[in-house]
Amino acid sequence: MRVLGIETSCDETGVAVYDTHRGLLAHCLHSQIHLHAQYGGVVPELASRDHIRRLPRLIAQVLVDAGLESAEIDAIAYTAGPGLAGALLVGASVARSMAFALGVPAVPVHHLEGHLLSPLLGEGSLAFPFVALLVSGGHTQIMDVRAVGDYRLLGETVDDAAGEAFDKVAKLLGLPYPGGPQLARLAEAGQAGRFSLPRPMKNSGDLNFSFSGLKTAVMTARTRVLEAENGLADLAAEFQEAVVDVLVSKVSAAMAGHPGVNLVVAGGVGANRRLRFKLDRRAVKAGFRVFYPPLELCTDNGAMIALAGALRLQKGLAINDGLEVRVSPRWDLEAAGCA
Ligand code: KG4
Ligand code: ZN
Repeated sequence: MRVLGIETSCDETGVAVYDTHRGLLAHCLHSQIHLHAQYGGVVPELASRDHIRRLPRLIAQVLVDAGLESAEIDAIAYTAGPGLAGALLVGASVARSMAFALGVPAVPVHHLEGHLLSPLLGEGSLAFPFVALLVSGGHTQIMDVRAVGDYRLLGETVDDAAGEAFDKVAKLLGLPYPGGPQLARLAEAGQAGRFSLPRPMKNSGDLNFSFSGLKTAVMTARTRVLEAENGLADLAAEFQEAVVDVLVSKVSAAMAGHPGVNLVVAGGVGANRRLRFKLDRRAVKAGFRVFYPPLELCTDNGAMIALAGALRLQKGLAINDGLEVRVSPRWDLEAAGCA
């Protein structure tokens, strides 16, 4: 079965073809970073219009790259939420119209389900059940993943997401959009511990997170830091260390409660090198394995949506809601599972 996947939930237009026998056949991505950079963040209306402009060409391109005619596609999966309403509607309308024209099923996919299944696109032998740390710009969650479609939330952020904290702190430090990766790069030139920042909720006794206080702590430290030599990089390093510390500590607690299973790390912040280093080190000590998606598939892409759509179809979990084009800008992953 060959599934075309379409991702348009935010500022990346992603299209891919996944084959259940041969794996990922092709994927194309257009990032809108330059479009939004001058505004310091994503402008929803500009995002929607750009998805409209890019999608037809990306779909044509991915079919050429995969060596397929559109008639050889067996289903079309698309991100139905969560995300920006207008941006989601573009992908949903294109996917459902194309599916109708080709006479194949259209499969709505939860964006985070795409992220948490994405390590299956990489090397290695990831098996269910596993624990997943989802760390993106919009979400920070630890999930108990029992099977495709069977997800239990173990903990999540009570305020900002980890990626959102990276982006906001980057802005505070005067770094250009998109701030997360820039802040991570700056942190590599700095030394953690010179300025001390809190580790919010590290000892809260549950698996929840809070990152908004860190942003305030950085704001308070900023003036002091600017006077110090290499201060900005040292503060960036301490901020990164604080986020990574808390993530690793909560994940360790989750793993201790799920002996014998492995860990999946997905979402944009999963690309963070310090987080990977510390999680890998902890995994060796605690005796579990960590699976990441291929680096280029950590951030938003069409491949993870095609994969999730294919797995849902195989399990008979695809929702058939007729010709209606519906999206869910706010959507709970546990409810989306339905297994
Ligand atoms: O998964 P993603 O592409 O989009 C969402 O679904 O949100 O994640 C984007 C987030 C942004 O907040 C970005 O700043 C963050 O991931 N990010 C990083 C790194 N690369 C991307 N944060 C920290 N370190 C990185 N290397
Ligand atoms: Zn994402």
